[in-house]
Order: sequence, then C-alpha cells, then structure tokens
Amino acid sequence: MKLFLDSALIDEVREAAGWGIVDGVTTNPSLIKKSGRDFKEVINEICEVLSNGAISAEVLSEDAEGMLKEAREFASWKPNIVIKIPMTDEGLKAVKVLSEEGIHTNVTLMFSANQALLAAKAGATYVSPFVGRLDDNGQDGMQLISDIVQMYMNYGFDTEIIVASVRHPMHVHESAMLGAHVATVPFGILEKMFGHPLTDSGIEKFMKDAGVR
Ligand code: E4P
Repeated sequence: MKLFLDSALIDEVREAAGWGIVDGVTTNPSLIKKSGRDFKEVINEICEVLSNGAISAEVLSEDAEGMLKEAREFASWKPNIVIKIPMTDEGLKAVKVLSEEGIHTNVTLMFSANQALLAAKAGATYVSPFVGRLDDNGQDGMQLISDIVQMYMNYGFDTEIIVASVRHPMHVHESAMLGAHVATVPFGILEKMFGHPLTDSGIEKFMKDAGVR
C-alpha cells in the first residue's frame, strides 16, 4: 500500500520524505492557499524533494479545453506530476485525452461508486474518494472504498484508489484492510500512526533497566 502526504507545506514534505515511507503528495487549491506560496514554485519544490513520488497538482479550469491546456503545462514542469481533475463531465473528457497522451491523472472530489466507474473507464490513473467529507455528511466513507475496491476487482481496472479526506488513523488502517492502493494522509495523522502508549512505556522500562535513564 502506498502512503501519500496530503499537504502543500514544504517543511512537512521534507520531514515526511525523511521518514522514508511517503510515496507521493496530494495538493489542492485550499492546501496551496494555506501554504501562502506561488502554485508553480511550491509544486516544483515538492517534486524535487520527492523526485520518485507522484505529486498531484489540481487544474482550475472548468471546461475540458482549459483543463487540457493547464494539464499539459503542469506536466511539462516535472515528470512526476499527476494532474488532479475534478469529477465532472468536462473533467472526464480531459482525463480521456490525457490518458491517451500518457499523462497521469487523479480524479478528485469523488463521492460515489458510479463516479469511480466512469473515471476508470475514462482512463484515470487514480481516483480520490473523500471519506472524511462523506462521514461529515452522515454517510459511510469507508463503505464507498469497499464498493470501489470490489467494482475495480470485478472488471480488472488498473485505476488506483487514493483514500482522501482522511480524518484519523483508523481511516488508514481500514483502507489497508480493504485493499485500497493508496491513502493520502495529513501530516498530523501520519505522526499519530507512529505512536502507541505501550511502545513509549516499553522504551521507558528498557532504558531504565539498561541504566540509560
Ligand atoms: C486530497 O486529494 C484531498 O484534496 C484532500 O484529502 C481533501 O481533504 P479535506 O476533506 O480534509 O479537505
């Protein structure tokens, strides 16, 4: 299973890259705004820090022609850029063309299994179902992941599922149990995944017994 960092903060990207467990980064317009930096500059810097990772950069156009123009420009910046495209009819038109051009795509703002079916048929490299926002809306986000995993297995689609809008470590655990390909995780949640109180108390006792503390 791959883990992506859901962030546009370069310090977080550097720190997480240093842990050696991050396979990519997802950004969105809100995360770019939070970084307070220029979009192109921050995307290029993230691509350099994680040169073997898949780095998602989101288009802002709402029509296929505009999306294609942006996508081709972003793809020319660095070879590891993935074009993030919203789940609309115009978005899927653009995904189809980009997949034929060999440009990787991540279809975002996905909230139903039928949307995932259409995106896979259009040739999306990744789809991003938003589990946290579904949970917030009183729906079961992880059930959607289970449905998409089953649907893609039934037909052998190559599209990879990125579990997005992750709110807590159990979302990551459940994603792995369901066989999702990727979870994109905010920095604070990745940090929480390292810890367990029994690890801490175990280290404390070993250190005391060894006379280190
Ligand atoms: C990642 O691709 C998504 O843009 C992100 O996970 C959305 O998370 P949020 O629902 O916490 O904004």
